[in-house]
Amino acid sequence: MERCLRLLLLLLGSGLGSAFYLPGLAPVSFCEEQKVKDNCKSQIELLVNRLDSAESVLPYEYDAFDFCKDENERHPSENLGQVLFGERIASSPYKFTFNKNETCQKVCQKTYDPKSGVSALDFIKKGIQLNYQHHWIIDNMPVTWCYYFEDGQKYCSPGFPVGCTITADGRVKDACVINSEFNKKDTIYLFNHVDIIITYHSGKDENWDGARLVAARLEPKSYKHTGDKAIKCEGPPMEIPKDLTSKFQITYSYSVIFQENDTIKWASRWDYILESMQHTNIQWFSIMNSLVIVLFLSGMVAMIMLRTLHKDIARYNQIDSSEDAQEEFGWKLVHGDIFRPPMKGMLLSVFLGQGTQIFIMTFITLFLACLGFLSPANRGALMTCAVVLWVLLGTPAGYVSARMYKTFGGERWKSNVLLTALLCPGIIFADFFVMNVILLAKGSSAAIPFGTLVAILAMWFGISVPLTFLGAYFGFKERAIEHPVRTNQIPRQIPTQSFFTKPFPGIIMGGILPFGCIFIQLFFILNSIWSHQMYYMFGFLFLVFIILLITCSEATILLCYFHLCAEDYHWWWRSFLTSGFTAVYLFIYAVHYFFSKLQITETASTILYFGYTMIMVLIFFLFTGTIGFFACYWFVRKIYSVVKVD
Ligand SMILES: *[C@@H]1O[C@H](CO)[C@@H](O)[C@H](O)[C@H]1NC(C)=O
Ligand SMILES: *[C@@H]1O[C@H](CO)[C@@H](O)[C@H](O)[C@H]1NC(C)=O
Repeated sequence: MERCLRLLLLLLGSGLGSAFYLPGLAPVSFCEEQKVKDNCKSQIELLVNRLDSAESVLPYEYDAFDFCKDENERHPSENLGQVLFGERIASSPYKFTFNKNETCQKVCQKTYDPKSGVSALDFIKKGIQLNYQHHWIIDNMPVTWCYYFEDGQKYCSPGFPVGCTITADGRVKDACVINSEFNKKDTIYLFNHVDIIITYHSGKDENWDGARLVAARLEPKSYKHTGDKAIKCEGPPMEIPKDLTSKFQITYSYSVIFQENDTIKWASRWDYILESMQHTNIQWFSIMNSLVIVLFLSGMVAMIMLRTLHKDIARYNQIDSSEDAQEEFGWKLVHGDIFRPPMKGMLLSVFLGQGTQIFIMTFITLFLACLGFLSPANRGALMTCAVVLWVLLGTPAGYVSARMYKTFGGERWKSNVLLTALLCPGIIFADFFVMNVILLAKGSSAAIPFGTLVAILAMWFGISVPLTFLGAYFGFKERAIEHPVRTNQIPRQIPTQSFFTKPFPGIIMGGILPFGCIFIQLFFILNSIWSHQMYYMFGFLFLVFIILLITCSEATILLCYFHLCAEDYHWWWRSFLTSGFTAVYLFIYAVHYFFSKLQITETASTILYFGYTMIMVLIFFLFTGTIGFFACYWFVRKIYSVVKVD
């Protein structure tokens, strides 16, 4: 699947000519210092991104730590998605010249004096204890740290730790396992040296000049450099004392080696990172698992549609002609109530409008991601794309909401338009705002700068709200949707329901199957968000999206049919909630994930985790609810337009 899609992208790319590259993704050629030309450069710059940790939700900028800084620090511009995700990229003092090997170069030296305060050192120590990870970038590629697991499998991580610790009872934590020299109990070690290996393709037998970088790897090391001038990268590791009693120095250094390898293609330079994350088998397993559920549900639905419904309709229409209406039972009986407008039609129509907006947004985003336009190489593109699409899709939201509201017989159209434009985005924005205050208080890089906040508000009120109004205008202008059967004056009594056809158990059951289809995928998505693993399996994700669409629709239709047979005609809200309940399972899963996978202990981190989770759950609720509602709506219209009523 992934391969097919990549091939498709390649075809697309070559079709549009080799000049077609997304911004930031164009290849850069390098050549040696003496041979610099217009189209190639010799300086290789290393950029540093924010540091993050699986044990804390708060990311921090590189500059928040007292590491070596670039004298003329620059911040390459970031897109909206990156800013929202807390990415902050800055230039660094690590600068290399192409194909010039260097060993043990000093970068800078930091001195800490207990007399003048050591808060900067304490911050580094805290960062090491929480296992914060560096994220470095060379030529728009992550600098990876590859290591072997005990079972001999290689794993390449796009980040490396600041340091590692050994606890008081001698437990070797995190990265300290890589070297037996880390052996002192109750000690913090700092990785103050990196060995960098840059692999390049020399450009031989290719249609471009100069060399192109195809991989950048590093190995974090720890050396207690002594002396001020000549440093030798050897000897015992650099430990940070618990309590500083005298002056303390940290020297940072690096070595760099250039390797030629003409077998790796530039276009597939990300592959080694992705291949080391061997999750494809599990992915296929998850897809198979979901397909079984889909087949099972489809079988059930097909059986009902083709046999039971067919029989029902034949029987109903026969009874009609023989004028023996006394023996009527089942779903036909409620035909006079089936389209009776729901209670709280305002809220339902608003949810449907916003659900439609989210649905279209997700579909387009995933489709583009699938084609490779939003690959991890194009940082932040996924989030930017989603936000921009959401803003532009105000019109369908307004239209659907207004049209449904009119169909429900509502008359307060002004409130309807305003609620559609403001309700759920308002909740999400308020949630974001509160979290932003916490992030600001903690000095985290994930805090959204004031300018961006204003820009988001401007996009919301300047583009999205007017577009929603436009959609609502068209929605109200059209006639209300006509129903296939007329509604009686007096509502029918609903008979006492058995346990399984009562509203609540039905709703709870409805979400189980769709959730069963997605929970393995969900694990990877949560991992990519909270443990900062790269997510790239968009082909699978698109498949899961389709599967979710099918299961949500089918489960809702199935339950809807059972309820109608039990002569309970309150289906509007129930169909929305039946598939929307998948979001509640999502929430339960997120809570489980929090306690089983993450080692978050800080209160601020916990609040943030649940703040972000609430946003996810709300969006997912609207998304799945809308799918279920429209599936059920289609089904109900279908069956009541086929059956004859007098
Ligand atoms: C740099 O070091 C690597 C590995 O030792 C070696 O293969 C390569 O030829 C060296 N490059 C230069 C320009 O010396
Ligand atoms: C080049 O890279 C490939 C794939 O990683 C590897 O199998 C091969 O040994 C490398 N060749 C050289 C000369 O290092």
